[in-house]
This record gives sequence, C-alpha cells and structure tokens, in this order.
Amino acid sequence: MIKKGIILAGGLGTRMSPITKSVNKQLLPIYDKPLIYYPLSILMLAGIREVLIIVNKGQVNQFRKILKNGENFGIKIQYKEQQKPNGLPEAFIIGEKFINNNNVALILGDNFFYAQSLTKTLQKTSKLKNGAKVFLHPVSNPKLYGIATIKNKKIVSLKEKPSLTRSNLAVTGLYFFDKNAVKLSKTLKPSKRNELEIIDLLNKYRKKNKLNAEFLGRGGAWLDAGSIDDYYDTTSFVSAIQKRQGFKIACLEEIALKKKWINKKVILESIKFYGNCDYSRYLKKLIF
Ligand code: G1P
Repeated sequence: MIKKGIILAGGLGTRMSPITKSVNKQLLPIYDKPLIYYPLSILMLAGIREVLIIVNKGQVNQFRKILKNGENFGIKIQYKEQQKPNGLPEAFIIGEKFINNNNVALILGDNFFYAQSLTKTLQKTSKLKNGAKVFLHPVSNPKLYGIATIKNKKIVSLKEKPSLTRSNLAVTGLYFFDKNAVKLSKTLKPSKRNELEIIDLLNKYRKKNKLNAEFLGRGGAWLDAGSIDDYYDTTSFVSAIQKRQGFKIACLEEIALKKKWINKKVILESIKFYGNCDYSRYLKKLIF
C-alpha cells in the first residue's frame, strides 16, 4: 500500500501572470474552492493520509492558513519549500526524509482529474509494490506534455513535449513510484530547459520493464490549470457538474467523513472555520 503522497505546488505560474504575481496559483479558486483541494482529494481517494506539500519559498504560511496540519481532513500534512522550480523529480529529493524509504505518489498541484470509477482505479494503483505507474489520457495538443507511445497496452517510448509525434497520449501529472524514485532522481541531469524531467525518471523505469500505464478512459477528464484558458475550462467543468448533480467535487471533509477518518464534530469545526458560505452549507447537509 502506498501511504505517502507529495503535492508539488511550487512553480512561478508565469503563464498566468499578473494573477500569480503575489498569490500561489494553487490557492486560486477553481469555482468554489482552492485549486489545491482537487489534487489533495485525489491522494485522499487513493487512501493516502500522509501528505507533503512542496511550495515556493516563503509561501508555507499561505497554505497552512487554509489546510493547516490536515487534521480537519483526517490526514497529516507537512510542508517544505522549493527554492526554485528545478523540475518534478526534485520533489523526491526535497521529500527524501518524508518518503523515508517508502513507495510514494506524486501529483502536480494544478492537475484536475475526474473519471468514472476513478476511486477504484486509484485504490488499485495504490497497492503498487514495485516499479512505477502513470496515468495516460489523450490530448489534442501533444506538444505541450510528456507523451507516451503504446503497443499492446505497454509503453514503448516516452518523450517530453515532442515536436513530432504520432501518439496523443499525455502522461498526466499523477505518478506512483516505488522507493527507488529518490535514489534514481538523484542520478538525473538537468534537461535543455534546465530542469530535472519526470519523463527521464520514468524512462529509467521503462528501460527496466518496470513502468505500467493506467488509462482514465474516454469519459474521463484531465485538465491542467496551468494556462488561463485551461484554468477557466476547469472552473466551468466543476461548476457545470456541481450545479447539475448537486454534489461537490473535491470536498475534502466529505471524502474524509465517508472514509471514517473524521466524525461529525470535526465537520462542525470546519463549518465554523469556513464561516457563512455555500461550502459550509454543503457540509451541514452531510451531517444533519
Ligand atoms: C509536466 C511534465 C509533463 C506532464 C505535465 C502534466 O510538464 O514535465 O511530462 O505531461 O507536467 O501536467 P510542465 O508542467 O513542466 O510543462
């Protein structure tokens, strides 16, 4: 069982400047809750209760103000700073102590996932013992992502932002790794864009035949709220589904309550903390 998860919530958010000049992107709203709630909900749905959030220098307090130590969600949250965005695998180097020789999940702070049976798939994936697992999903603009080529459901090649590719299967920002991720990340060299690349780390697993793929399925949605258009598309998506169906996507307290990680008393504390708002009224409905 993978018990530990990292959310990489650093980055300068340059594509969304000036909005991101003074606020971390992951704290901006996706419809009715901060962006970081969505990736955190994914880790929780995978059954992960020990979380490390990596943020930019000087931003820990902003995150602590809203997520605190995770108690209200029945989990434990620690925070660490990244001095500058040196690439995704740096999360395993920064998180070495937290990982403490265990298997670990990594999710990017701006990635949004929504799919049929996603909880089941996540729970299955979190049983990973050896190797690494990625989630693939088709995109219309493969030049912007890490792209996988598949043969008989096996990944035969992986390239970061290929200028020419026949595949449209993006490697989404959710990864499950065995404990070797830390050691292997330390052997990586910076790429042309001067970052450690997750694709290079995944290729190390692939070459040893230890990389597997999971698919979100055609009905699933994966969005990365990194550009202004994608950001608003994500907000529209959440708003449309929530209004139509009457439930909230990524309500952390609801997930924790269903998993029996927290009780009604904790929900009441959260209601007090959030104050008079739509989110609190939703929480009230869960317990009365
Ligand atoms: C990063 C990864 C890329 C992945 C993407 C998912 O890209 O390098 O492989 O497909 O996240 O959001 P970046 O955000 O650094 O452009």
